[in-house]
Amino acid sequence: MQKTRSSFTGKIGFVLAAAGSAVGLGNLWRFPYLAAQYGGGIFLLVYVILALTFGFALMCAETSIGRKTGLSVVGAYKALDKRFSFIGYLAALVPVIILPYYSVIGGWVIKYLYTFVSGQAGLACADNFFSDFISQPAEPIGWFLLYIGATAVIVLMGVEKGVEKVSKFMMPVLIIIAIFIAGYSLFLPGAIDGVKYYFTPDFSRFSITTVLAAMGQLFYSMSLAMGIMITYGSYMKKDVNLSSSVKQIEFFDTGIAFLAGLMIIPAVFSFSGGDSSALNQGPGLMFVTLPKVFDSMPAGTFIGIAFFVLVLFAALTSSISLMETVVSIIQDKFKLNRKITCVIVFAGSIILGLPSCLGYGMWSAIKILGMQFLDFFDFISNSVLMPIVAFLTCIFVGYIIKPQTLIDEIELNGKFKQKTLFKVVIKYVAPVCIVLILLSSILSAAGIIKI
Ligand code: TRP
Repeated sequence: MQKTRSSFTGKIGFVLAAAGSAVGLGNLWRFPYLAAQYGGGIFLLVYVILALTFGFALMCAETSIGRKTGLSVVGAYKALDKRFSFIGYLAALVPVIILPYYSVIGGWVIKYLYTFVSGQAGLACADNFFSDFISQPAEPIGWFLLYIGATAVIVLMGVEKGVEKVSKFMMPVLIIIAIFIAGYSLFLPGAIDGVKYYFTPDFSRFSITTVLAAMGQLFYSMSLAMGIMITYGSYMKKDVNLSSSVKQIEFFDTGIAFLAGLMIIPAVFSFSGGDSSALNQGPGLMFVTLPKVFDSMPAGTFIGIAFFVLVLFAALTSSISLMETVVSIIQDKFKLNRKITCVIVFAGSIILGLPSCLGYGMWSAIKILGMQFLDFFDFISNSVLMPIVAFLTCIFVGYIIKPQTLIDEIELNGKFKQKTLFKVVIKYVAPVCIVLILLSSILSAAGIIKI
């Protein structure tokens, strides 16, 4: 285990590193398809409200736990109160579930990049290109192996720093190109209906499921409720203003998700008239829609290549940090050598990822709770495990170590203006809401109530 904990240099170093881990497929791939599916404007509204309350309070809590203890997730809970180290283990389980299926999607990104680079961009905009691809037995597995192999090589060689440097340069470019694509999409014929759908909350579409989906997405996208921000916090210097850094990370992350929605949702309306089957496509939405946008623009192949390269980098920084987390937890726990641990995590992720690849094709008849594998892993981590971890974290902070302990940590540098909001959300609002949402979704999954 590394004993000397290097720290980020200053505030900007912390914000960029945390944002690098937060911005990834969650923003670009997951947010738009959920927003499309859950009513557009209403989802956006619920998401923003949750980000300003739950998201802010939880991120402040996790980061300050990390900075206070100087430890990563399992150690941090243990150091604060031995009886609660199980929260750390539960949180640590989340990246273990996410990494494999994240890498399956990462593989899809490489496939699209390859398609564009090899001059077949035209093929990619056919309606069945995506579904044909993911239902093949071998091809998605090949791209998945390539993606997770690349992630593992980077982690094994310890060259994450290099990748992070490149991605710091890539991130602003990604933002610029996303603004450009979004701007272009807005002028596609019929796109205006999509803009309305995305911006006008339709309250008749509001339901507990919308809140659950938005909450799971918030945790996923901001890497909350899985101990990641605790680890990042542990590298944060004491003289950095914690609450304002958290605000910047949230702003960054939400801004990019918002842009991704703007790139995709109006285009869906333009190409399919916004009928519900197009909006409810789920995980394929980005892959089906964007090639059509690129196809319709001048120099579209070039823009498409640039876009998929940037998405690949954003995804890689996230999967590297996911794998790092899993490796360091196993390494600390079992006192193993780093290289051996990397190989174990790599092999384990392949085994867990294969069902997600096959679930769309050969194994599509196998369903768990009515979902195929990828959706099931996504559901278990985002809609079950993460809310539970978030709930336990709130109880732990609110009633065991008390919010004041963390407020003191946060106030080591600068005033914490939102401390009342922080206390109220952590002690009352978040735990009550999470329990209600979880219960109602479990009861409805079991068919006992209808929501
Ligand atoms: N937040 C990342 C994204 O938006 C995904 C993610 C989830 C992640 N958990 C993580 C990234 C842990 C790094 C570490 O894509």
